[in-house]
Amino acid sequence: MNTTIDIQKTSTSTISEVDFNNLPFGQVISDHMYVCDYKNGKWQQPKILPYQNFSLDPSARIFHYGQSVFEGMKAYKDNDEQIWLFRPLENQKRINISSGRLVMPAFPENYFMDGLTTLLKLESDWIPKTKGSSLYIRPFIFATGTGFHASPADAYKFVICCSPSGPYFSGKVKVYIEEKYSRSANGGVGFAKAGGNYAGQFYPTQLAKERGYQQVIWTDDNTHEYIEEAGAMNVFVRIGNTLITSPISDRILDGITRKSVIDIAKDENISVEIRKITVSELVEASNNGSLKEMFGAGTAAVISPIHGFGYREKDYDLPDLENSYASRFKKRITDIQYNRAEDKFGWRYKV
Ligand code: PLP
Ligand code: COI
Repeated sequence: MNTTIDIQKTSTSTISEVDFNNLPFGQVISDHMYVCDYKNGKWQQPKILPYQNFSLDPSARIFHYGQSVFEGMKAYKDNDEQIWLFRPLENQKRINISSGRLVMPAFPENYFMDGLTTLLKLESDWIPKTKGSSLYIRPFIFATGTGFHASPADAYKFVICCSPSGPYFSGKVKVYIEEKYSRSANGGVGFAKAGGNYAGQFYPTQLAKERGYQQVIWTDDNTHEYIEEAGAMNVFVRIGNTLITSPISDRILDGITRKSVIDIAKDENISVEIRKITVSELVEASNNGSLKEMFGAGTAAVISPIHGFGYREKDYDLPDLENSYASRFKKRITDIQYNRAEDKFGWRYKV
């Protein structure tokens, strides 16, 4: 490590209040956070501080123009108490791609990786060992620079917080294929992990939830004929024995779990097609029985089987398969993440 980090430890840990056998997703926050400010054209000395509130000027541009990007990662603990990350440099690169789209400064790789690993070592006891749980890690950057002029801020804050978490979804996942609202558009911000992309999804997702669905599957904003991704995950479809996923574009997040599923499928000689998928193809495959599986892939959601989809007032159910592709991918990925199996891809990263 070559980054100097000023570390201030908490004197009042809250860990004894946490029920590690019953963790929600993203609600419980660990004792410390990593913080680094950008001002006068450069990133300042990073710090680890007790988790606490920020004080911000009401004219800070995050409040007005939404300059904010984030990442989602997880830390895992194996039986020997060793801490592991999964492809963390992909997140490090992606936060800078997201920042670039919002005219925010890139965060240096060594500040990101050294801050992250130092924080995880300090928060080691917060990494759950209960099955299906992990330490969800949330790096984010937002504009602290002030003034109402609608232009990029001159000051930012980079933060990493950690949350011991259980599964993202509880129960079976049903999705609604959306044709009226769009998540993103050509030339827009869809490929970036920008806070505003998520705020814009809340209203159509709320409408879908009122009708019994957990997530929306977004279609392309132009024709609404092609399925793209879900609110917090990329989507895979299995027709016959072929796995299909939409190509990434400037409307779709380039998911790390998605890339990993594609590589594992190739490794298992499963035929994979990266191509556009029409909703009518999906409906037809469901009607003729060749639609075997749909599942979402993402850091928070891991691999989440989709049990059915709604489209134009009609519901389509998916079969419950033994030895599904989804369960195979989930096992391969989590075995690598928790250091339970060989990692031939070199994805595991020891903290
Ligand atoms: N798509 C969206 C919109 C997401 O928010 C996420 C979650 O991070 C993903 C896809 C999956 O990406 P990853 O596998 O890198 O977590
Ligand atoms: C993740 O999978 O890490 C995400 O960012 C999804 C999130 C919006 C909870």
